[in-house]
Amino acid sequence: MCGIFGIVAAKERELGPVLVEAGKRLSYRGYDSVGCATLSAGGAIDLRKDVGKVEEVASRHRLAQMRGLRGMTQLRWATFGAPSRANAQPHLDSSGEMVGAHNGNVVNNVELRAQFLAEGMTVRSTNDGESCVHAVERHIRQGATVLESIGRAARDLQGDYAYLLGRADEKVLYAFKKGSGLVAGVGDGFTCVASDLPCLLPLTRRVLRIRDGEAVVLHADRLELFDAATGTRVEREPEEVTETMEAAQKGGYPHFMLKEIHEQPQVARELIHLLGASKHVAPFVERLRRARHLYLVACGTSYHAALLGAVYFARLAGKPAVPVLAPQFLAQYVPALGAEDAGLFVSQSGETKDVLNALEAARAQGAAVLGLVNVLGSTLMTASDRYLPLACGYEISVPATKTFVNQCVAFLHLALRLGGRPVRTLDGLPALLQETIESAEPQVAALAPQLVDKEDLYCLGYGLTYPIALEGALKLKEVTYAHCEGMLSTEFKHGPLSAVRQGYPVLFAGQSEDVPLLVSGINECACRGARTVVVSQDDPRLRANAGDLVVLPPADPLLSAILAVVPLQLLAYRLSVARGFDPDFPRNLSKTLTVD
Ligand code: M6R
Repeated sequence: MCGIFGIVAAKERELGPVLVEAGKRLSYRGYDSVGCATLSAGGAIDLRKDVGKVEEVASRHRLAQMRGLRGMTQLRWATFGAPSRANAQPHLDSSGEMVGAHNGNVVNNVELRAQFLAEGMTVRSTNDGESCVHAVERHIRQGATVLESIGRAARDLQGDYAYLLGRADEKVLYAFKKGSGLVAGVGDGFTCVASDLPCLLPLTRRVLRIRDGEAVVLHADRLELFDAATGTRVEREPEEVTETMEAAQKGGYPHFMLKEIHEQPQVARELIHLLGASKHVAPFVERLRRARHLYLVACGTSYHAALLGAVYFARLAGKPAVPVLAPQFLAQYVPALGAEDAGLFVSQSGETKDVLNALEAARAQGAAVLGLVNVLGSTLMTASDRYLPLACGYEISVPATKTFVNQCVAFLHLALRLGGRPVRTLDGLPALLQETIESAEPQVAALAPQLVDKEDLYCLGYGLTYPIALEGALKLKEVTYAHCEGMLSTEFKHGPLSAVRQGYPVLFAGQSEDVPLLVSGINECACRGARTVVVSQDDPRLRANAGDLVVLPPADPLLSAILAVVPLQLLAYRLSVARGFDPDFPRNLSKTLTVD
């Protein structure tokens, strides 16, 4: 996930050290290349950028020595295309008199680049940050002011992003926000702006949170805020913030796990836009279609997403796919694998050794190897014939949450495309996820005290919600240390039912399609004394039969399966905290498992 920082000083000075330190503070977001630009009082632009870590690029290009009145730094996390010096940011306009950088995704980048070239502009990279600069340049060339141009460029640039730019012949910087984070600050003799609050905190505590559609002009002594669409001034004063650095990194949430659960609507929105506009999806789908046998290979949470993916593929595209845990793939399928087959390897980190072993074995058999991965630049990304990004930004908490949701989004998108169906089915998901978080939080808060001392639980699901039950159970055991087994609801009667006694907790992940089956599962347990908790859409039959019902908003069953994971994530989080554990760093576990 890229990050930007900009500063406007009252007097020309050595800005390099400030830019490098700001870059280091943004580095937790994940990145593969770094760049800085300074603009001197005399109108010169000094631009230095490269692939690598902040410290490496700083020493290779002597970033600390950069001087100017204004400066900006950008950390790039490649979404598509190899990280390269040309694609690193900031970028110049055609004449080299304006420089800018962005974070986020401009999803119509390919089309815009073609337009800019046709209009005679100089385009030096394939990076979408450069498109932000040219989108503004295009309107300046037609005689508009910079602010007017920013307002008009917003109509051209599709996606979620924020950008920053400066012109050689002025003394200000401009920044604009649409969908991605942007916070401005006022200090003693300078103003600044960044993708997030933690980046600004060591410099100032007087901050102005920029809203979508707003442009901010940074002068050395003040900020001016505008509604970019109308050009009208927005009167909002900077506020004094009191957060600590650590609290600010957690975005005001007590733990990263809770923050990342709350980020799910936004990351889903960004991935839906990205996949909808990407030219990489069609050939990916074609490779899946051609596969004689298709395997979805993963571990842990990523495997649960693969299970849901297989249900989507069969249901929406009539395409059988075999979800399989990576080490078992070696024993069960690799010996029979051939060049007509394909493996889709799914991993948040892209470094899970079990998954990489499976990929190498598949490649050795001549099968196609495809990747679905969050960490760009990871081994899985480079080892795959083709890959698609999950575009979640860094997931810091060990329990995977937002990456699971985006794995499900990616699978649903692929299944719809494979089946030749409209992908707009997914459009409502971000708002539904938001509604689910808001409605589930109080319901889960009321439920948690009644489950906090349970050491043994089951979590059951069926069809579309079977993978969700497994994922809910994994979240619960991972952060509460209680035993929680996920299972196909219909299997419960084939053995585990014997564990049920008075007060024994059985959770059900359900949805409207499966109410009759849910009712029978609930009663099978309840009549033996179980305490049943159902996560599903509201239904009088469930109200009449379930011990507790955590209500999901009405939704298409394809989407409601994804929604059902949210209350289970929140329940796991609440129980972990109530039991005195740190959900972000569960004992014995690691975020990236690079061992066999
Ligand atoms: O990085 P990966 O997706 O390959 O990781 C796979 C599992 O280790 C991971 O999903 C693990 O199960 C999570 N910590 C679960 O929350």
